[in-house]
Amino acid sequence: MTPKAGTAGSGRPARRRARGGAQLRRGLVEDLGARDCLTTPAVRRAFAAVPREHFVPEAAAREGLEAVYRDAVIITERDERGMPVSSSSQPSMMALMLERLQVEAGHRVLEVGAGTGYNAALLAELVGPDGRVVSVELDDQIARKARRALEELECGVRVVRRDGRDGWPRGAPYDRIVVTASTGEMPAAWLLQLREGGLLEVPLRVDRVGTQAVVTFERRGDRLSSVAVLLGGFIPLRGGEAPPQWAQQDSYLSAGETLDGRSRPLAGLRGEAVGRLSAPARRQLLSLALTEPRAIPLGVRANPSALFFFLALEAPSRRFVAAFPFPGVIGDDGSAWRCWAGRGPSPASTPTGGRKLSGSCSIWSGAGRRAAGRP
Ligand SMILES: C[S@@+](CC[C@H](N)C(=O)[O-])C[C@H]1O[C@@H](n2cnc3c(N)ncnc32)[C@H](O)[C@@H]1O
Repeated sequence: MTPKAGTAGSGRPARRRARGGAQLRRGLVEDLGARDCLTTPAVRRAFAAVPREHFVPEAAAREGLEAVYRDAVIITERDERGMPVSSSSQPSMMALMLERLQVEAGHRVLEVGAGTGYNAALLAELVGPDGRVVSVELDDQIARKARRALEELECGVRVVRRDGRDGWPRGAPYDRIVVTASTGEMPAAWLLQLREGGLLEVPLRVDRVGTQAVVTFERRGDRLSSVAVLLGGFIPLRGGEAPPQWAQQDSYLSAGETLDGRSRPLAGLRGEAVGRLSAPARRQLLSLALTEPRAIPLGVRANPSALFFFLALEAPSRRFVAAFPFPGVIGDDGSAWRCWAGRGPSPASTPTGGRKLSGSCSIWSGAGRRAAGRP
């Protein structure tokens, strides 16, 4: 898949970019494969075929191709408060979701949240010439950009500007529906527009802190049964429901740096707990989050996603903080402890925070290491 002649991406520099992109794309596919995020041949082929840089041209021009092929989310639009409202999702998360969605050639697929159009292009590769992909997008300008980018690559995707909570009844029934923004409610339209036995994948916010379970549901009659779950971190679906608490600035504590005109986050903690702290306690918490990690073994080996879900539901909301993908608990004075996430140790704090986290981990172990739910 390369940009066709006469488009914004045509000409010699574009061809050079396309060649560089192909190499980096292969690197990304290998990396995702080595981390077990990308194992299905069809999904691997789709990632190898679709140039991500074509869907994030501003980021490609600003940060370079290597940045485009890092396994990282690329934020493309922010609201007036600076909060992200659209992005190209993290490739490993996209890969894991596409694997679970089990898209086949000839399928009819509805995507909610076209964003840059990149995921829709991957879906188009998976359904092939006999399939059909419709992607709905709430924001007019974002929809236009995605439509243009998809047309330039002749992906055959239809982009519709509309509220995705209503689905797109004209294309129903769908074999697959994938939602690429998080929601606390499940609109009936998604169930009604899914065929019997079809799969619906949706990032569901499961608590007020913003913990998200990306659940794959199968339609069985007029019910949806979950068949797979991942830990997610998606931008909220807009419209209707009240904005989730964690999307408000006062429960988000962050520090970043801007060097040579490039900004990057250094630490970000969110949760109701953050908003409850006094200003000095917030400063202490942020300084802890910025310190070099110290390893203090807790004696627990855990799947980080499962532990995240457990802590998010078990720990009182006045103590739980998320420094995605690390869950943590804090003391009343802002003492904090981040849980280690599989490989590395984690940043740490005063003994209070550590003891609180150890306590929660022990409850989890005692309960047979359930992925979610109270013991
Ligand atoms: C994480 S981005 C989607 C990423 C996209 N699939 C891609 O590959 O670039 C979420 C998108 O959902 C859109 N969105 C938010 N609320 C929506 C709604 N109610 N209906 C349709 N789209 C919505 C946002 O404008 C944003 O573009």
